[in-house]
Amino acid sequence: MIGIFDSGVGGLSLLNAVQKAYPSEDCIYISDNKYAPYGEKKIDFILERCQKHAEFFIEQGVRLIIIACNTATTIAISALRETYDIPFVGIEPAIKPAIQLSTSSKIGVIATRATLSSTLYNATKQKYASTSTVVERVGEGFVEAVESGNTQSETFQNKLRETVLFFEAHKVNFVVLGCTHYFFLKEQLARIAGDKMKFIEPTEAVINRLKNIYRENDVRQTEESKTLIYCSGSMNAVQRILKDRQFILLKLQY
Ligand code: DGL
Repeated sequence: MIGIFDSGVGGLSLLNAVQKAYPSEDCIYISDNKYAPYGEKKIDFILERCQKHAEFFIEQGVRLIIIACNTATTIAISALRETYDIPFVGIEPAIKPAIQLSTSSKIGVIATRATLSSTLYNATKQKYASTSTVVERVGEGFVEAVESGNTQSETFQNKLRETVLFFEAHKVNFVVLGCTHYFFLKEQLARIAGDKMKFIEPTEAVINRLKNIYRENDVRQTEESKTLIYCSGSMNAVQRILKDRQFILLKLQY
């Protein structure tokens, strides 16, 4: 059984990818939406929520935890690995692939405030982009819009347009989507940007990493796999996004 968590629905795209890779594996997903966005919270608070999720998953018999949240990964993954004897796979802004793709040694990163100011993100940037220019922007209100499903409003469409114009003004052609919620905005951003800009997210890299550490014999082979989804807040967003899927929806009690 694999446990996956995010501050909300952002990580559901990773849940889908995991279930494609391991169709007979049970998965538990936590949408900690009562406390979203994590990106505007204090480090200690995020750390504490992540520890609670890890302990909950371990109690449920999970054998690997995916942190489907850049903010939580960049802030908490080292501490979680030190504290709990279970493998963790995290997700981080895809700086390395973006640098490899970019011909101008300039890339854009759009992420939460907490991710952009985290030690791990800045170390990754230093490691892979020390001789490049990284143009950064906080996706103000993006997490909230994806959670509420209200991404078609004129105000929000203007926000997306401003984001594209911002990167265009900086002559950036490759923009890293450094928050799993933003993956749900990829098509809209790409439509606005046309062929001037590519938006990069690391789902495939995360699944490859998962395959490296989660061997087939760790997988519980069942005819029908179960998907349990726990929400700490409203269940509407999960129901909206997974409307054609079979899953059991439960209230997170902490
Ligand atoms: N999906 C998260 C991330 O990848 C959430 C951000 C938030 O809650 O602020 O960073």
